[in-house]
Amino acid sequence: MTLLIKSIDDLARQKFDVLVPTMGALHAGHQSLIKLARQRSDRVLVSIFINPLQFENKDDLAKYPKTLEADLKLAEAAGATAVFVPSYEDIYPGEINRIEAGEIGDLYEGASRDGHFSGVLTVVKRLFDLTKPKIAIFCEKDFQQLFLIKQMVKELNIPIEIVAAPIIREIDGLAMSSRNVRLDIAGRKSALIISQALKENTIEDMHAVLATEPAFTLDYLEIIDEDTFLPASENSKNKRAIIAGWVNGVRLLDNRRMGAAL
Ligand code: PAF
Repeated sequence: MTLLIKSIDDLARQKFDVLVPTMGALHAGHQSLIKLARQRSDRVLVSIFINPLQFENKDDLAKYPKTLEADLKLAEAAGATAVFVPSYEDIYPGEINRIEAGEIGDLYEGASRDGHFSGVLTVVKRLFDLTKPKIAIFCEKDFQQLFLIKQMVKELNIPIEIVAAPIIREIDGLAMSSRNVRLDIAGRKSALIISQALKENTIEDMHAVLATEPAFTLDYLEIIDEDTFLPASENSKNKRAIIAGWVNGVRLLDNRRMGAAL
């Protein structure tokens, strides 16, 4: 039976090895992170907290799906030992010491979403401080977030291993995301253009594929160097194509390591 932890006092009485931080609205993608966590330990904590600090758009925050009952069942089915559902006051008890995301935090997602990564790093650091895991698992779908969390852990000397989990896709290629439920049938079909574009081998061909879908509005498309998160050069060891945009006002992002299968 998965334990539900609702306060930091209850949390303090428990010990967990692996943390899987989430904002709820769990799906098979989150379940894959929990299953990966279970391969490392049987003391796996899933946190569910919709972090207002990382939503620059209040409408996006208001529309973020809230499905706690279903989340608890999905977390349990995937093997979570406990689910921590803190209150706002648990996470932000007083004045908020924001963690800045630096120059890379202002690029791509950060350029479109002012303060987003500072909000992410601030909550992740607070969750780390509260839960003190040995390992924390994040999905590669939010690749810039993963990069910045790894950077924060290194800079602040946080003794936590950050594990990257692969993107889980629907059978037709759409990257799983809590936001997908906001797409209607036509929007869901249009959203497939992103994973289709990612199958191409050049940025020009990716642009060409994206341009065929009138319902998709591109925010950015870039091939970045995974070590620096800056545009890739000939010398880049690992290159990754990153795409973000909107379908019917729903923000979608996806990425693929160049040369790897989708
Ligand atoms: O990726 C997410 O779901 C969130 O950004 C995270 C890491 C749980 C922080 O709120």
